[in-house]
Amino acid sequence: MDDNQIVNEGAYPDDEYIYNETFIGEDGEEYYYEEPLISLFNVVKEYDKGMVKALNGINLDIFEGEFVSIIGPSGSGKSTLLNMLGALDKPTRGKIFIGGIDLVKEKDLSEFRQEKIGFVFQLHNLIPNLSVFDNVQIPLLPTGMSNKEMKERISEIIRAVGLEDKRNQRPNKLSGGQRQRVAIARALVNNPSIILADEPTGSLDSKTGELILNLLMEMHERYNVTLIIVTHDNGVAALAERTIKIKEGQIIEDKYNY
Ligand SMILES: Nc1ncnc2c1ncn2[C@@H]1O[C@H](COP(=O)(O)OP(=O)(O)OP(=O)(O)O)[C@@H](O)[C@H]1O
Ligand SMILES: [Mg+2]
Repeated sequence: MDDNQIVNEGAYPDDEYIYNETFIGEDGEEYYYEEPLISLFNVVKEYDKGMVKALNGINLDIFEGEFVSIIGPSGSGKSTLLNMLGALDKPTRGKIFIGGIDLVKEKDLSEFRQEKIGFVFQLHNLIPNLSVFDNVQIPLLPTGMSNKEMKERISEIIRAVGLEDKRNQRPNKLSGGQRQRVAIARALVNNPSIILADEPTGSLDSKTGELILNLLMEMHERYNVTLIIVTHDNGVAALAERTIKIKEGQIIEDKYNY
């Protein structure tokens, strides 16, 4: 297997690629087609009856365990794209597959979201009258996990983001960076395979931003979580293994940073 070359090439639904198996190419070499975790085909998202084209034909493959940054001007469609990947909204046209699930056809995506996705929103959306612990608990409530198991898991993740001493505080008593850490703990508590983070460092000073980013990268490395970050910050973008640039709802650049 060591000598195999991985062909990170987009396959299309109608093509007859056999993923995750080796085959011999025309040059006699052995090749391997890795199946993308996420595939988008000609994704279009329109708002206001087509007056606004937020996404205008996105084709994209993302592989398991990748760390990808998404950059582009304000209004270029970054949050819209992230919402599509998190199954928070459906495209107007096109196809999206994540982990073998057809996000356009599938009617009930709540289970998918709950099991696979950790979302860190542009505004962190914590519930003000719940404690840190209770905010982090929210994604676990529908899972049927025992109370004991839940407590252990929540304590572990609160420790991981360095907020042990704040676990009984409400969010309005916390700093912006601490709130963002709660949002990250909440996004990670159910061991998602994909973390989608929309400007996770946008409202923070550079030092706190760096802490948050290190935290996300540590989770990515430790658990092989696929990490997708939207950012305005070119420095942050360059930390990712791969950077995708969006303009007017289209991908204008897709490059590996090494
Ligand atoms: N719910 C909506 N209804 C109508 N238009 C929308 C809606 N959401 C987004 N848009 C429009 O779609 C386009 C893309 O918006 P999006 O929020 O994806 O941009 P963005 O790249 O995330 O920008 P920013 O960097 O400012 O967060 C914009 O023109 C925006 O005005
Ligand atoms: Mg946005």
